[in-house]
Amino acid sequence: MSPAEEHGALWRWLDRRIGLADLEYLARKKQVPIHRHTVWYYFGGMTLFLFTIQVATGILLLFYYRPSAEEAYESVQFLMAEVEFGWLIRSIHAWAANLMIFTLFVHLFSVLLLGAYRAPREVTWFSGVALMGLAMGFGFTGYLLPWNELAYFATKVGTEITGAVPLAGPFLRRLLRGGDEVTGATLTRFYGIHVAVLPALTTALVGLHLFLVQKHGMSVPLDVERAGGPARTMPFVPSFLLRDMVGWLAALAGLAALAAFFPAELGRKADPFLPAPIGIKPEWYFMFSFQTLKYLPPRILGLDGEVVGVLGFGLGALFLLLIPVLDRRAARGERSRLFFWIGVAIIVYMAVLTWLGYTASATK
Ligand code: HEM
Repeated sequence: MSPAEEHGALWRWLDRRIGLADLEYLARKKQVPIHRHTVWYYFGGMTLFLFTIQVATGILLLFYYRPSAEEAYESVQFLMAEVEFGWLIRSIHAWAANLMIFTLFVHLFSVLLLGAYRAPREVTWFSGVALMGLAMGFGFTGYLLPWNELAYFATKVGTEITGAVPLAGPFLRRLLRGGDEVTGATLTRFYGIHVAVLPALTTALVGLHLFLVQKHGMSVPLDVERAGGPARTMPFVPSFLLRDMVGWLAALAGLAALAAFFPAELGRKADPFLPAPIGIKPEWYFMFSFQTLKYLPPRILGLDGEVVGVLGFGLGALFLLLIPVLDRRAARGERSRLFFWIGVAIIVYMAVLTWLGYTASATK
């Protein structure tokens, strides 16, 4: 029986118009290799699931949020106190954002340590690094939107650091702030970036990313290939997808529990005329860079220490982006210990500086 004959009249009607048989063919063809690293294949899908939660809860928040310095804080307060389940939706949005960045880090580093960026998946990697940048942009811009004290001063510090970018710094700082200071103009800008620019770019890039994943199929790590390749594969539909969904349900349950027991806080409304409260901290995923800048001396080789730091992070990001091009061994299909250990070193560096950020700076 051909696929078309297996289905009813509605399926055949749709198939003639939108080509359902082609989609069914793609779904049936996709296989997932089973080996000792298969668990890492789940993190991309988990990130995608969390991203859809962000879109859904973000749209609900938009029904009540007002993007101005006069009304933003009050609109969030109203949402938390008066709107039924408003506190839950806001808390899920805040928690899922953090979880999404976390699963993104796991996804990025598992791809890096397994060498899954090697040819022909370089562009999948490039689009992934860009998605990481966009996700951090979501975090940075979203943080300011409730217009509370912590967010206000964290944004002041964050945009100040942008000003240290060599040459373009002052221009970038003004561009982000919508003026010389963090004001209502900054809030309106961040709002536009958070709800329009970043979602549009992310959707387009996720589309490209998933198209490439579909085109190339799942990569098999070199050590598994050396040992004769994976012994088995499993069909993506339904076997892998069902396993994916078990993970998504568990994540949803975890999210609901986190949101219910640790709801997002609001704190006090931002007041630009008050001094900055003690212990201003960025979100945890910016902590390692924030802490690095703190340790740098005021002047390095005659240059401003912060400028050198920001330049260093820019070069670090460029290095991360270009790994598939720089790793010549992986390009030839050989195992590359150097890049494996570079990946491990980056993880250790980020973990140690984040830890120091939460402990050593407590008194500063
Ligand atoms: C919103 C962000 C992202 C989403 C939704 C996403 C989604 C996915 C999905 C569903 C897969 C297939 C399953 C898997 O291998 O996990 C995948 C594979 C892949 N992703 Fe991502 N990803 C994102 C960000 C990233 C980042 C930050 C990187 C690295 C810089 C990256 C690099 C890759 C590569 C190279 C593959 C192919 C892996 C292989 O074939 O084994 N992705 N991604």
